[in-house]
Amino acid sequence: MDKKIVLSGIQPSGVLTLGNYAGALRNWSRLQREDRYCYYCVANLHAITVRQESEALLKRTFDAAALLLACGVDPKRSSLFIQSHVSEHAELAWALDCNTYMGELNRMTQYKDKSARHADNINAGLFTYPVLMAADILLYQASYVPVGKDQKQHVEIARDIADRFNKNYGETFVMPEPLIPQVGGKVMSLQDPTKKMSKSDPNPNAFVAIMDEPDVIVKKFKRAVTDSVGVIAYDEERPGVSNLLSIYCIFTGMTMDEAVASFEGQGYGKLKAAVADAVINELMPIQAEYSRIIKDEAYLRSVLREGADAARAAARRTVRDVYTRLGLSLAE
Ligand code: AQP
Repeated sequence: MDKKIVLSGIQPSGVLTLGNYAGALRNWSRLQREDRYCYYCVANLHAITVRQESEALLKRTFDAAALLLACGVDPKRSSLFIQSHVSEHAELAWALDCNTYMGELNRMTQYKDKSARHADNINAGLFTYPVLMAADILLYQASYVPVGKDQKQHVEIARDIADRFNKNYGETFVMPEPLIPQVGGKVMSLQDPTKKMSKSDPNPNAFVAIMDEPDVIVKKFKRAVTDSVGVIAYDEERPGVSNLLSIYCIFTGMTMDEAVASFEGQGYGKLKAAVADAVINELMPIQAEYSRIIKDEAYLRSVLREGADAARAAARRTVRDVYTRLGLSLAE
C-alpha cells in the first residue's frame, strides 16, 4: 500500500500550551493510521529566529519530544525527530530560498507580528522562516500538514513554492494540504482574547501550559478576561467568553449549542470552573506519561536517533532529486 505522508512540527520556543495541543498535537496522534506514515519534528531551527538561551533551548527541545510521546506520538507508526539532526532541512531551504520571491514573504502575517514583537532582532531567518517550513514539508513529500489556523498561510506558501518548482523543473514535490481542526484551530489568549494563545507570551496567565499543575490551571481560568455582560453565549463581539466556550467544546466533545444550553442561567464563575475541570481531566494522564518518559533518557534518545535516521533517509532522496534537477549534482 502506498501510504500518504503526514508532516508537522512544533517549536521549542517555550512550554507547550493548550493552543498547541488543541490546534496540532491532539491531532498528531489521531492521524497515525494504517494508510499513513507520519514525520513529526521538534522544530528547533525555527526556534532560533528568536534569540534563545542555548542551554534552555536544548532542555526545552528534549522536554517537547517527551511531551509529544506523552500526547500519543507512537514511534512505531511515526518518525519523531529533532529538526537540526536532519541537515537536509537547511539544504533544501536554501534551494527553495532561491525559488521564493521577496514579495511573497513580505505578505506573511507572522513575520509582521514577530518583527513588531522583536524589533531589536529582525533577522533574515525571521523573514525566510516560511521557506524553511516549506522545506520541512516538501522534503518528505507530505500530503497532509496538521496545523493550527495561524499556520495556514505558511502551508499555502509551501504549495506556491512547490507548484513553481514543479513547473520550472518538472514534477518534484507532492502538493501538501493543511489539516486544520474545525474546533480548536485557534485558541485565544486568556488575558487578551483578541490574540491567539502563544507559548512565548511574556504573561504566563495568558496561556495554560500542558504541564501546568491542576491548581494553576484553575487559577489561570479564574483570571481569564471576560466582559461585563454576564450572559454565557457564543458571540464574536465577546471574545473572552466565546474562547472559554470553545475550549469547553474542545475538551468535552460537545457542540457549541449543547455547551451554551448546559450553562443557561449560570454565571462566568461556573463556566470557568467547568472549563478548568474538562482541561484537567484530559491533561492529567498526559502529564503522568510525560513524567514517566522524561526520566528514561536512554529511551528518549533512542527514539530520537531512530526517528532522525528514518527521516534522513527520506529527506536525502528528495534533496538528491532537487540537486539533480537544479544541475547541482554530477550525473550518476
Ligand atoms: N493558539 C493556538 N491555537 C491553535 N493552534 C495553535 N498553534 C499554536 N498556537 C495555537 C499550533 O501549534 C503548532 C505548533 O506551533 P509552533 O510551535 O510552530 O509555533 P506558533 O504557531 O508560532 O505557536 P506559538 O505557541 O504562538 O509559538 P511562539 O509563541 O513561539 O510563536 C502549529 O501547528 C500552530 O498552528
